Amino acid sequence: MKNAKIAAFASHSPEKVVSNEELSRLVDTTDEWIQTRSGIRSRRISSSESENSSGLATQVALALFEKSGVKPEEIDAIVVTTVTPDMNTPSTAALVQRNIGAVNAGMCFDVNAACAGFVYGMSVGEKLISSGKHKKVLVLSAEVLSKATDWLDRSTCVLLADGAGGVLLTEGDEKSFLAEDFKSDGNKIDILHGGNFHVSNPWCEAPQDFKLYIRMKGREVFDFALKEMTKSINRLIEEAKASVNDVKYFVVHQANARIIQAAAKKLGVAQDRFYVNMHEYGNTSSASIPIALSDMIKKGLIKSETGDKIVISGFGAGMTVGSMLIAL
Ligand code: ACO
Repeated sequence: MKNAKIAAFASHSPEKVVSNEELSRLVDTTDEWIQTRSGIRSRRISSSESENSSGLATQVALALFEKSGVKPEEIDAIVVTTVTPDMNTPSTAALVQRNIGAVNAGMCFDVNAACAGFVYGMSVGEKLISSGKHKKVLVLSAEVLSKATDWLDRSTCVLLADGAGGVLLTEGDEKSFLAEDFKSDGNKIDILHGGNFHVSNPWCEAPQDFKLYIRMKGREVFDFALKEMTKSINRLIEEAKASVNDVKYFVVHQANARIIQAAAKKLGVAQDRFYVNMHEYGNTSSASIPIALSDMIKKGLIKSETGDKIVISGFGAGMTVGSMLIAL
């Protein structure tokens, strides 16, 4: 079995910054409510078709090539995680392949595990490399949640945002992916979902009023996230026969600052070892973890080839939870 490692990190966000104040002119809300309930101060929102999911993911891929010196034709596979593809089919990964000219990428496909998508995508990417059949794999997470948002629903529109991030995985000398933990609970579909593609054909009439908007029961999602993410991290640490003290940073889905604060407390870890950046990016679903990782690289908080251990952990619709322990 081959070892996989993260060779480069990158992110790309839409140009347009939308403040809480601007949203308070759209729906009945305030900057104070949004900040105290979620930690979010502003978010990036796509304002042109070039900032659709494939466009954002393409920019991330180009940045990864620049950082690593790897060329598009060296890429063997592209995994895109998204709940907001440009099209039902082909996959966003296929569109990215076309955009970047990754002519030798055999497997190009999308993964939908909602906000836990990046962690699921990393697990898939790691396995593509460890199989020995792929040497260079792009794992890209790109979301344009603004097109799945009901802009009249104040309970969701103040949280959701657009953005993309990702990594280049290559073969490494040492074992870098130390442990992983995944869990899904399909019984909880009603607490968080993104609409329903109803059966609609000459023999079956679909409801006229359905919309493909993200709906959630915020409090129940909050409780699920706190309980299941901390359990998943504990299982992960146990599997790796490690301790939370071995982990330099916990980089978890940036949905809500209060979930992160409570998770740190529950795990007995100092708050400053949980990276937080949702105040400037909002909740970008599966893109939030790779955007955070890319920020941390830029700020010098984490560095490749150091052996420093990080935990990534996401939760989302499904309900899905996924965590990984990675040595950089
Ligand atoms: N501005 C002002 N008031 C609001 C707003 C708003 N934007 N949105 C809701 N409210 C009101 C509601 O109408 C309700 O009023 P009521 O009590 O009179 O009925 C009240 O605020 C809701 O209060 P709480 O339920 O106590 O709010 P809470 O503290 O739970 O915060 C929040 C709500 C922010 C949604 C929180 O529950 C949360 O973050 N949950 C988790 C969401 C999450 O993590 N989603 C991630 C998955 S989705 C994805 O990642 C794509």
